Amino acid sequence: MSTLVIVGAQWGDEAKGKMVDVLGGEADIVVRYSGGNNAGHTVITDGKEYKFQLIPAGILHPNVTAILGGGMVVCPKGLLEELDRTKAQKGELGQLKISSAAHVVFPYHRVLDRLEEEHREHKIGTTSRGIGPAYQDKVARFGIRMGEFVRPERFEPRFREVLAFKNRLIKMFGEAPLDFDELYKEYSEYAERIRPFVTDIEVLVQDAVQDGKRVLFEGAQGTFLDLDSGTYPFVTSGHPTAGGAVIGTGVGPRNIDSVLGVCKAYTTRVGGGPFPTELLDSIGEQIREKGKEYGTVTGRGRRCGWLDLVLLKHSCRLNSINGLIVTRLDVLSGFETLKVCTGYILDGKKLDYVPTETSDFERVEPVYKDVPGWSQDLRSARSLKDLPKEARDYLDFMEEFTGTPIAILSIGPDREETMILRPEQIWGQESRIPVSVV
Ligand code: IMP
Repeated sequence: MSTLVIVGAQWGDEAKGKMVDVLGGEADIVVRYSGGNNAGHTVITDGKEYKFQLIPAGILHPNVTAILGGGMVVCPKGLLEELDRTKAQKGELGQLKISSAAHVVFPYHRVLDRLEEEHREHKIGTTSRGIGPAYQDKVARFGIRMGEFVRPERFEPRFREVLAFKNRLIKMFGEAPLDFDELYKEYSEYAERIRPFVTDIEVLVQDAVQDGKRVLFEGAQGTFLDLDSGTYPFVTSGHPTAGGAVIGTGVGPRNIDSVLGVCKAYTTRVGGGPFPTELLDSIGEQIREKGKEYGTVTGRGRRCGWLDLVLLKHSCRLNSINGLIVTRLDVLSGFETLKVCTGYILDGKKLDYVPTETSDFERVEPVYKDVPGWSQDLRSARSLKDLPKEARDYLDFMEEFTGTPIAILSIGPDREETMILRPEQIWGQESRIPVSVV
């Protein structure tokens, strides 16, 4: 096996950044396939904290090529700030490449994101980064792609055309139009710096796959924020699901060998939308404080709730997940009893899947199973046998219910606080990752 997708199995923030960092060192290429700087990945390694929003965390490994795929929408200013910051912190980095097909996010996208959100009766709670409007332009075949952005003779007329249209919209809402000369100058400077990184990445990825190189496809956000498979309209505008790796990088569907789904040992969500196991009480607060559940991008407190196994099982099926990466089990220490959701009741009937219609999903009542908790701190555990029996039972139940083995367990933010349980689920039998003693 040489290709691996890392997908968020819930509503995002499952600690994919840490996992891409841990597994990225084994890869030749790490390519991100969806989203923009609405995502926030924190990686703690060698006593330093790195924050990523656009660049795949794999760039921390100097031998790795880190790619921004065509399924992404990229804010040039954010990208350059992130690159400069990471270089200053780390020194030597992997190579950076950007797909010519990725779309560029401009200031008018952010203005329109705000105006749309203000107008909505049921707020999505977007990250205000202009993500939705940038994807709207892509779908409308009006967007400016990286390939055009870095060619001045193409960029100038396209930017003039698009900005004139956007300014008409902005003025309709009574807001001040954006100045072409000022913005064009600023963005041309960004384009100049970004040009050396922009290339055709589809062939690069396909050739790497053909040559048996290890390619890691990094998802952003989570499965239930997917435009099609998520809780529409409370979703992002890209494709965080594993299918997005195919659309967003140009790899063929038969060339994906392994899909690992990252999930927390509980559930969180940022922004609006249904969340059946949400805890609006002191337990929810306790999880939020202990788990430092505050958004990396917006600083908003995340909504917290019990583990929803119906949601997770649905996610395993949607993404063809062959191994789970369970994170943040340590946060659940200290509860006498834990609840896990094993079914939903909708209009008096039991459901064992996530209904597609969001207004139905909003009305489901969770069915819980009580399981015994544990009091021990888990962060010093380095193998399963260091965990209390109740924690091991909790993991066993997750595997049994979802029918999916746990490949990796994370019990803290550091690289070292990771147990590799089933390396064959990652890169196959040839995996070079050392197994923790189980
Ligand atoms: P947008 O992607 O900024 O349009 O936001 C759409 C929805 O996705 C909002 O509910 C956001 O809170 C959520 N969202 C976007 N990116 C992330 C993420 O990285 N983690 C968690 N939620 C996110």
